[in-house]
Amino acid sequence: MNSKFIAIEGLEGAGKTTSSLVVATILHEYGIHNIIHTREPGGTPLSEKLRQLLKNDTYHKEKITHYAELFVVSAARVQLVENVIKPALARGTWVIGDRHELSSQAYQGGGREISHDFIRCLRKETLGNFTPDLTLYLDISPEISLQRVTERGQLDRIEKEPLHFFTKIRNKYLAIAKSDMTIYTIDANRSKEKVKTDIENIINPWLRTIP
Ligand SMILES: Nc1ncnc2c1ncn2[C@@H]1O[C@H](COP(=O)(O)OP(=O)(O)OP(=O)(O)O)[C@@H](O)[C@H]1O
Ligand SMILES: [Mg+2]
Repeated sequence: MNSKFIAIEGLEGAGKTTSSLVVATILHEYGIHNIIHTREPGGTPLSEKLRQLLKNDTYHKEKITHYAELFVVSAARVQLVENVIKPALARGTWVIGDRHELSSQAYQGGGREISHDFIRCLRKETLGNFTPDLTLYLDISPEISLQRVTERGQLDRIEKEPLHFFTKIRNKYLAIAKSDMTIYTIDANRSKEKVKTDIENIINPWLRTIP
């Protein structure tokens, strides 16, 4: 069986990290043991530096433009894809990604309102046809998202955005997921157990379709 790239998407606190571990367990049970976990932005030395820069909030009130944000997340992504994800897949290792390019469509496209055409063009230029084999989109209301991240502690630059910013992101995620057969939407407002069952019901049949 060829190795695959599974991406996990959703708002802050949607359960991406929790779900990555669920996916890994399912793969293990299926006899797949060569697995790496990646996160975006991040996953290479440069990309992790870019992650810190993005989340940091101390620029002496300098406004980070929407395009600058898009270019930074895109730079982190292309580093990760070329230096980690593609080499892993080439040697037969499965990749479970905490966020991928759909995050740019949702956050920079939906949230920051950068044009869909521009984001698509940037993706095409930087990643070509590279895309996850399967994406799990964990759909959560912005209110529950905020509640979960607030309980966790200090908010980062993005998490401090107002609720309507996250509503725009969620709407974009939902719209794209509806039109793309490789994206599965999961109601992540429910308990961890229910989300886990949904993930099993998606991944197990999908694994059986892989030659
Ligand atoms: N379905 C759920 N119900 C209740 N709590 C949950 C659920 N899923 C995750 N949590 C809890 O919510 C918090 C955020 O979960 P997690 O870290 O998996 O989300 P995340 O999407 O990775 O967040 P981030 O975007 O900040 O990385 C954790 O404390 C986790 O235990
Ligand atoms: Mg996480």
